[in-house]
Amino acid sequence: MDIKFTIWTLFFLLAVCFSSQALAAPEMKSHHKNNSLSCEDCHTMSPAEAVSMDQCLLCHELADGKDDYHGAPDKHDSPHYGPELECENCHHEHSPSENFCADCHNFEFNVP
Ligand code: HEC
Ligand code: HEC
Ligand code: HEC
Ligand code: HEC
Repeated sequence: MDIKFTIWTLFFLLAVCFSSQALAAPEMKSHHKNNSLSCEDCHTMSPAEAVSMDQCLLCHELADGKDDYHGAPDKHDSPHYGPELECENCHHEHSPSENFCADCHNFEFNVP
């Protein structure tokens, strides 16, 4: 086979790989997507870096000291971490959220 042809084929395949990776950009949670958030509302740095809770708190004010969430204590203000626990421990933006407290407790949190 013609060596030039082989090299161009390789280039082409590489280009396809990179562009399909760009297409697979992470999805937002529907509560954010439907409210027209853009990537830059959370990712102020480029390329995308970890998002700090301060960024979330620009838009969200959390009620503190609620002592009964579905029979469980306030996950936003626990005796261990107070209101200082990084949101990301529970609310993932690009993958299913998780119940951080479940490592040790049986609270039935349903994390949006
Ligand atoms: C509501 C805030 C928010 C929005 C909007 C958002 N992200 Fe994210 N993004 C995060 C958080 C938080 C993480 C950390 C991982 C996680 O929680 O899922 C993250 C992680 C990432 C990562 C991985 C970075 C790393 O360090 O691993 C990439 C890439 C990314 N986001 C791209 C995007 C793109 C592209 C958009 C727009 C389509 C977007 N994000 C919109 C909050 C957001
Ligand atoms: C630019 C403003 C903005 C930023 C930044 C933002 N959000 Fe939101 N978020 C919204 C809006 C608007 C909604 C939909 C209305 C509502 O439920 O408050 C929403 C909804 C949510 C909900 C669902 C609320 C429910 O009732 O189900 C969660 C959870 C949430 N955001 C967490 C986060 C976290 C965690 C971050 C940081 C990684 C973040 N948000 C950053 C604007 C923002
Ligand atoms: C320990 C896990 C956990 C952490 C950490 C956490 N959340 Fe939540 N969050 C939840 C759960 C569970 C709910 C669902 C509340 C319900 O069902 O009553 C929720 C609900 C919400 C809501 C919907 C309104 C409300 O108060 O019910 C918003 C907005 C929100 N979280 C934002 C945040 C932000 C911003 C941070 C970081 C400062 C954060 N959360 C940290 C577990 C967590
Ligand atoms: C690494 C394990 C661990 C994690 C994670 C954890 N806890 Fe705890 N928690 C404990 C232990 C052990 C105790 C009992 C000893 C004590 O009171 O300090 C406790 C006690 C408590 C208490 C007081 C006793 C009670 O049941 O009323 C509350 C409230 C509580 N945790 C809430 C939370 C919340 C909310 C989260 C998630 C944000 C959480 N915990 C995450 C280990 C953990």
